[in-house]
Amino acid sequence: MELKINKQTYQVDAPDEMPLLWVVRDLLGKKGTKFGCGQGLCGACTVHVNGQPMRSCITPVMVAKGAEITTIEGVDAQGNHPIQVAWRENNVPQCGYCQSGQIMSALNLLENNTSPSDQDIDNAMSGNICRCGTYPRIKQAIKDAASAMQQNKGVK
Ligand code: FES
Ligand code: FES
Repeated sequence: MELKINKQTYQVDAPDEMPLLWVVRDLLGKKGTKFGCGQGLCGACTVHVNGQPMRSCITPVMVAKGAEITTIEGVDAQGNHPIQVAWRENNVPQCGYCQSGQIMSALNLLENNTSPSDQDIDNAMSGNICRCGTYPRIKQAIKDAASAMQQNKGVK
């Protein structure tokens, strides 16, 4: 089947019901998206499918056929997206395992809400678990990224 991932087209030989995560990591070698619980409970495997965050561990690949899929590798290969900058400046990751999923959920929040309140952030991020407890830094980074994105818009 044909898949569009990070604006590139890939031909993959996979059964319809194979989890999208398997395809992304094992067939295409994009290892930024992580396997955590495998049950849709931790958010480590979050990718965007047509702009919506989805748990790729429980999403059959057929659901993503013909859709625009974005993985962590597609955010900005140079690491210059405001969300990536804010993550670095706030030293958010500890072990790092959950962080690509955190970023993909945060990115969806900021694409839909340029000025999120604490409650908005809590609601958007509640499905992403961090065993290292980096939640305060994640929240600060989201706020910083929101400010940077607002400023960038003002400049244009
Ligand atoms: S690995 Fe998919 S939600 Fe945990
Ligand atoms: S940084 Fe270790 S699980 Fe989140």
